[in-house]
Amino acid sequence: MKNFKLVDNPLVKRDVTILRNKETDTAAFRAALNRVSYAIAIELAKKFELADIQVATPLEVTNGFKLKKQIVLVPVLRAGLSMVEAFLKMIPDAKVGHIGLQRDEKTLQPIDYYYKTPSHLDQSVTIVVDPMLATGGSAVASFNSLKNKGANNCLLACLIAAPEGIKRMGEEHPEIEIYSAALDRQLSNFGYILPGLGDAGDRAFGTF
Ligand code: PRP
Ligand code: URA
Repeated sequence: MKNFKLVDNPLVKRDVTILRNKETDTAAFRAALNRVSYAIAIELAKKFELADIQVATPLEVTNGFKLKKQIVLVPVLRAGLSMVEAFLKMIPDAKVGHIGLQRDEKTLQPIDYYYKTPSHLDQSVTIVVDPMLATGGSAVASFNSLKNKGANNCLLACLIAAPEGIKRMGEEHPEIEIYSAALDRQLSNFGYILPGLGDAGDRAFGTF
């Protein structure tokens, strides 16, 4: 799993446990997902390239840095929206695109219903955010669309990944690194991640 990076941190492990717990209510779920998303953003940002700049302190001019490339966040609707706020706190000048995908509950194939991304993806770092990497169908379809629009420097941020989804991404987009707070055992017969946390969108938005 060369394409996979586990975001390994005691606070993240504590929060993933809160997220898995079926007794966790919507408010506590959102708060924990927000905290984990900060940790993922910080870990993933180690990939960002810097450009040297000069900065004037009140005392003298010294060397500093700025991000070399524009960052573009692309939440996959709807569950991906619940990770965006934390990423934007860490990268406030990021642009945000949206991809609307819904898995067909029978075939598990992603059905796309919305696509809007900023221009100049070819000069940006494009980060797809989606809490669940299950079969990998949604992630693969998202990166297919983004690459068609010119994206060539891409990362995936998720909360829980299944081996099946990591393998599929490795086959179809091998250069894209996946950052995830947990690596789970397998998919159920219905395409749910085991042990997982259930339906991420429903838990984040309270649509039970
Ligand atoms: C979930 C999740 C991913 C997708 C992962 O979305 O947010 O987008 O499933 O599954 P896959 O790897 O098998 O494609 P869902 O279709 O439940 O839509 P929602 O975010 O609107 O709840
Ligand atoms: N989507 C979810 O929200 N949960 C899963 O376990 C799999 C896909």
